[in-house]
Amino acid sequence: MNRQSGQYDNDDKNRNSHLDPPPDPALGGYFLHPTAILEEGACLGAGSKVWHYSHIMSGSRVGDNCNIGRNVLIGPDANIGHGCRIQNNISIFKGVSLEDEVFCGPSVVFTNVFNPRAFIPRMHELRPTLVRRGATLGAGCVIVCGVSIGRYALVGAGAVVTRPVLDYALVRGNPARQKGWVCRCGVKLGAGLICPACGLGYEKTGDGLTELTSAV
Ligand SMILES: CC(C)(COP(=O)(O)OP(=O)(O)OC[C@H]1O[C@@H](n2cnc3c(N)ncnc32)[C@H](O)[C@@H]1OP(=O)(O)O)[C@@H](O)C(=O)NCCC(=O)NCCS
Ligand SMILES: [Zn+2]
Repeated sequence: MNRQSGQYDNDDKNRNSHLDPPPDPALGGYFLHPTAILEEGACLGAGSKVWHYSHIMSGSRVGDNCNIGRNVLIGPDANIGHGCRIQNNISIFKGVSLEDEVFCGPSVVFTNVFNPRAFIPRMHELRPTLVRRGATLGAGCVIVCGVSIGRYALVGAGAVVTRPVLDYALVRGNPARQKGWVCRCGVKLGAGLICPACGLGYEKTGDGLTELTSAV
């Protein structure tokens, strides 16, 4: 049976969801809006909230303390880490994985088949997409499948990402091109790869940047 209407995962048997108050995510449960659906075989972590008309399909895992906005479809078999914020109107398909603390702006578009045809089944040819820890995807950007978005990278609103994005890279445009670097705190890095806002310093590595100290 699918779960709906703000049921707890950890003490379902003792609750009558029509009579009891909705669960308090702070107490270790999750919150499902009455219009949201959590399919059997899907996992939703403690403290996570799922808002109006959103649907988490079987085989998908959503971590703790995530906020899933309105009209979001997750799965089947998608992976979302802890502390992610998924804004309204997003489909996160099989083949897409988000690590912890990823931010997806409203109406981000993921894909999973590179060359789809209505009349040729290609679900066995999925190209995976990996969004690494702490990355931000701006509103309405499109992620063409088969790429990874680096840790704490920032993708500008409306960008079309067709190539891998380095750790801490700022990319924008169509096709998305790197225009600089951003700090873990989201502010563009100045000369010398030092954050003007929080003072964190970086050095270049093969995957992009690495933090020199930990100020945030
Ligand atoms: C990309 C972004 C981070 C700004 O990057 P930036 O390098 O600091 O950009 P600047 O504001 O300095 O602008 C530099 C140039 O890039 C352009 N630009 C800014 N954002 C752009 C974007 N998303 N796509 C294309 N061009 C963009 C500016 O128009 C400007 O062009 P110009 O020099 O010809 O005038 C920001 O515009 C953005 O898109 N943020 C995401 C917002 C979002 O989606 N939030 C979701 C939660 S509501
Ligand atoms: Zn900073």
